[in-house]
Amino acid sequence: MSNRQRPVSVTTLAAMKTRGERITCLTAYDASLARVMTEAGVEIILVGDSLGMVVQGHDTTLPVTLDEMIYHSRCVARGMAQAQAQTSARQPLLLVDLPFMSYASVEQALHSAARLMKEGGAQMVKLEGGAAQVAVVQALTTQGIPVCAHLGLTPQSVHKLGGYKVQGRETAAAATMLQDAQALQQAGADALILECIPSTLAARISRELVIPVIGIGAGADCDGQVLVATDVLGLSAQPPRFARDYAQTHGAPTLAIRAFIEDVRAGTFPQPEQCFN
Ligand code: KIV
Repeated sequence: MSNRQRPVSVTTLAAMKTRGERITCLTAYDASLARVMTEAGVEIILVGDSLGMVVQGHDTTLPVTLDEMIYHSRCVARGMAQAQAQTSARQPLLLVDLPFMSYASVEQALHSAARLMKEGGAQMVKLEGGAAQVAVVQALTTQGIPVCAHLGLTPQSVHKLGGYKVQGRETAAAATMLQDAQALQQAGADALILECIPSTLAARISRELVIPVIGIGAGADCDGQVLVATDVLGLSAQPPRFARDYAQTHGAPTLAIRAFIEDVRAGTFPQPEQCFN
């Protein structure tokens, strides 16, 4: 088996950060898109709880249940396997969101993450929040469950944040975010997603952390980039400023997804117009 065909793992991502190679990540919620993304060579497929908004039509991610996450994760896992069987494409890492209130205690988080892995095929779970999640991250990683933390604009806290806004602009908030990122790494997190924060803050966090940092609306200096698939494919009614509609320029989903991956690897996405100060 060549290096190229080895499934993407936490070790692959860590090595990519060391080598300065950009990591690509896209959301998928069904087998068809997962197959196309796998064939295109994306490193991580995220079954995001954004499916509550883009698939189910809710205003927030809050109504999404653990059973729904498992259902979509299984669909995505099947699409990835089909691509592998048909084209010998490298298997991306399957990252799945722990939905709102499915990790409010250590016991609940262990139970929820176990279900995502056993029933949904998840290879890494994602959870939102800073220092308050340290005990949960420690418990999960102690049990051998890879964890991706998520800081900045954390959509499950939309009502607490007062809307979908850029986070970490004030000096004190930026300092807290850096401390939270360090605490989550120390607790065993294997990766971190930063959403909607100033590029300079994201660059500093990416530099100071050993684990890979993947940005969405967090500037060009993160170790990787993630976007929601519907934004890339021109299917969103109100795409966020930090996204780019690759379908408009490249047409078919296969071509649009490949173009996103190429741009991230080449460092040509994001551009200043997709970033925040
Ligand atoms: O749910 C999701 O799609 C996400 C991304 C926005 C990172 O968490």
